[in-house]
Amino acid sequence: MSFIMKLHRHFQRTVILLATFCMVSIIISAYYLYNGYKQESELSEMALEVDCGDLQHLPYRLMEVKPAKLSDTSRSDTTVLVFVESQYSSLGQDIIMILESSRFQYHIEIASGKGDLPALMEKSRGKYILIIYENILKYINMDTWNRSLLDKYCVEYGVGVIGFHKTSDKSLQSFQLKGFPFSVYGNLAVKDCCINPHSPLLHVTKSSKLEKGSLPGTDWTVFQINHSAYQPVIFAKVKTPENLSPPISKGAFHATVIHDLGLHDGIQRVLFGNNLNFWLHKLIFIDAVSFLSGKRLTLSLDRYILVDIDDIFVGKEGTRMNTNDVKALLDTQNLLRAQITNFTFNLGFSGKFYHTGTEEEDEGDDRLLGSVDEFWWFPHMWSHMQPHLFHNESSLVEQMILNKKFALEHGIPTDMGYAVAPHHSGVYPVHVQLYEAWKKVWNIRITSTEEYPHLKPARYRRGFIHKNIMVLPRQTCGLFTHTIFYKEYPGGPKELDKSIQGGELFFTVVLNPISIFMTHLSNYGNDRLGLYTFVNLANFVQSWTNLRLQTLPPVQLAHKYFELFPDQKDPLWQNPCDDKRHRDIWSKEKTCDRLPKFLVIGPQKTGTTALYLFLVMHPSILSNSPSPKTFEEVQFFNRNNYHRGIDWYMDFFPVPSNVTTDFLFEKSANYFHSEEAPKRAASLVPKAKIITILIDPSDRAYSWYQHQRSHEDPAALRFSFYEVISAGPRAPSELRALQKRCLVPGWYASHIERWLVYFPPFQLLIIDGQQLRTDPATVMDEVQKFLGVSPHYNYSEALTFDSHKGFWCQLLEEGKTKCLGKSKGRKYPPMDPDSRAFLSSYYREHNVELSKLLHRLGQPLPSWLRQELQKLR
Ligand code: A3P
Repeated sequence: MSFIMKLHRHFQRTVILLATFCMVSIIISAYYLYNGYKQESELSEMALEVDCGDLQHLPYRLMEVKPAKLSDTSRSDTTVLVFVESQYSSLGQDIIMILESSRFQYHIEIASGKGDLPALMEKSRGKYILIIYENILKYINMDTWNRSLLDKYCVEYGVGVIGFHKTSDKSLQSFQLKGFPFSVYGNLAVKDCCINPHSPLLHVTKSSKLEKGSLPGTDWTVFQINHSAYQPVIFAKVKTPENLSPPISKGAFHATVIHDLGLHDGIQRVLFGNNLNFWLHKLIFIDAVSFLSGKRLTLSLDRYILVDIDDIFVGKEGTRMNTNDVKALLDTQNLLRAQITNFTFNLGFSGKFYHTGTEEEDEGDDRLLGSVDEFWWFPHMWSHMQPHLFHNESSLVEQMILNKKFALEHGIPTDMGYAVAPHHSGVYPVHVQLYEAWKKVWNIRITSTEEYPHLKPARYRRGFIHKNIMVLPRQTCGLFTHTIFYKEYPGGPKELDKSIQGGELFFTVVLNPISIFMTHLSNYGNDRLGLYTFVNLANFVQSWTNLRLQTLPPVQLAHKYFELFPDQKDPLWQNPCDDKRHRDIWSKEKTCDRLPKFLVIGPQKTGTTALYLFLVMHPSILSNSPSPKTFEEVQFFNRNNYHRGIDWYMDFFPVPSNVTTDFLFEKSANYFHSEEAPKRAASLVPKAKIITILIDPSDRAYSWYQHQRSHEDPAALRFSFYEVISAGPRAPSELRALQKRCLVPGWYASHIERWLVYFPPFQLLIIDGQQLRTDPATVMDEVQKFLGVSPHYNYSEALTFDSHKGFWCQLLEEGKTKCLGKSKGRKYPPMDPDSRAFLSSYYREHNVELSKLLHRLGQPLPSWLRQELQKLR
């Protein structure tokens, strides 16, 4: 019995114990649950001295939370609207730099105190896909009217906001961010940071280990979140000041970047507690742009890297590779293949200097040639000469043949199709002799340069295709011929490490899908900085990003490049003498002065040939020599002649002597309506003055029709003028083509506007073609004044009206005249009234636009335009 009693008591005790235990557990759970819900402020206490690895054990905040669904971002254009503090503010420039490097379109506005907004919509389409505020306070404190406009736009078009917070005065500040359920703490120094692995923003960025050490600056802001709709993205610990008051504490992690998930008001935001000086913020910024734009402004994760080693066999004794260096090169190549698929060094050789080092270095040369098949090879000129110094293509060819012979003798492959010119000479600006010789000797199809369009800024470098050779942009990696020793790295070795670990070199890889890096033989001898750099770079990229690195052979790489950037295929030529570096690699036998000072751009049938004749009568004005195909017109900027290059163009112009102040010009009347001509002209001759002539577009159309009839154009002979101008969309193609040539050049306002995108108004002269016809001397005085040409030429004396021709002509000696040929000033019946009425209505809108444009430019309206406008009343 007593046994049963004991058992009973024991059972009772156990039940009580169990009940107590359960109660305690419930209380503890409730406590944590409650605190879990409350979020944040206590996190700091709990997280005292946590390490990044512990973050996943922290409760609630780091759980995956779904952000608000972005509405359809495709209803807006892909332009980013950036509100900056001023044109020169440094964070504003950093933001722009990243957008430009990523090739995203943007529009800048200076943020006003009231929060004035530009037009956000055009018709029913949103103009912007994302809004960025350099100073988030400008967004938060904008007046309520503007704010509600912006919020409405953001909600309707699924547009997110990125903002940066920086406390302005030096005292420690803590305040609630207006309209947001959290506080910010400013003017802190922070250290040791890590990434929230659950943040949906992460795309390029990989959440990695703890980044130990101080972060740059002492003006950090941390966010103290009190709401589950806000998710931290980056954490750091506060370093200073010492006298922190709760809930901020040292040793605990606090958010320096937060993601407003948009659960509150349907607008997602990413707020940064500092500028972009810290590299990880830059990376997160790139991801935030991608995420908030619904991946429409996103960078792919594939990165192609090619490492060129120029100057193989070139270089002073003591700077070259010995056998151990070559072994290290091979070993490292293998090692790198684990991180960069198919990684292979690309060696550029100059055979002439083979075996010109110390005994050990000569052995190094042999060791390289002993492993010839392990690498890729490209010719770098036999004697490392700069190709632009060779004026004759044949002497260039000779040099190349020597290098090729060397290659064949040593089993170096000669079919990679890639070459690099020493100092990038001859590639850009184009030395056409180099292109031809490369093709003849080596069948080169790809090269690379850092000079197109300019060395700096590097983010503007582009590729182009010329004479079937694909020119790719090349990148620098901070290693030059003289960078041989780690300790002697310019500015100290830390600079190199900084560049690799989140600095310039790292972001070159992040922001360029394809990078061809230039290194030199000397970077692989002595301290082997080339190996050091790329091994560390690959490690860093792998630790912190999701990028997939790989190497492709040059031919495939070039195809990939132009697949990614098809709009870069066409080159845009510039004046070689406008950039000192370009001038240095531009042949001394060529000049930059054989370029026009002004262009007569047309349109056709407005009197351009008459103007041309009058201009060349002037003693200081010289035109181009005639083209065998297009006579007095060169027609360079508008069509395929442009691809022949600037040497071809310049050959049309005389070499001006040193003393003359000659005005070279050319007239090509179909530049006027060409899509490409204004941009191309502005790139090569940005200071050139531009002259256009306008007559009534209806008369112009009719004159063109008559011109085509006299050239026996079948469509012009078969169809009446009225049939041509009124042809419908289903009309035969030759009729449509003729109609286009009659009508399109007459859209004067839109064509002139396009020229005004590239040329300032003061460089443009609009001539009234009717006046040129009836009173050419007055027009020519105006032209001389506009050009600033001297001496003044008296056209009243030099021109005379030829009653037989019915036009003004050049007065020759003994009273003879020189008029334009039969094809100018033709006799044909006047335009029929139906066509005139049709065209008057067809051009109505265009003419109204033209009148506005002329008004804006402060130019008088020609009489035909005044008459046309009067018809509207
Ligand atoms: P028509 O032949 O239809 O009359 P363009 O040289 O631009 O093709 O323009 C040709 C037009 O220039 C002619 O068109 C003619 O009207 C006009 N023109 C103006 N001044 C002229 C001149 N002095 N001699 C000949 N044609 C002149």
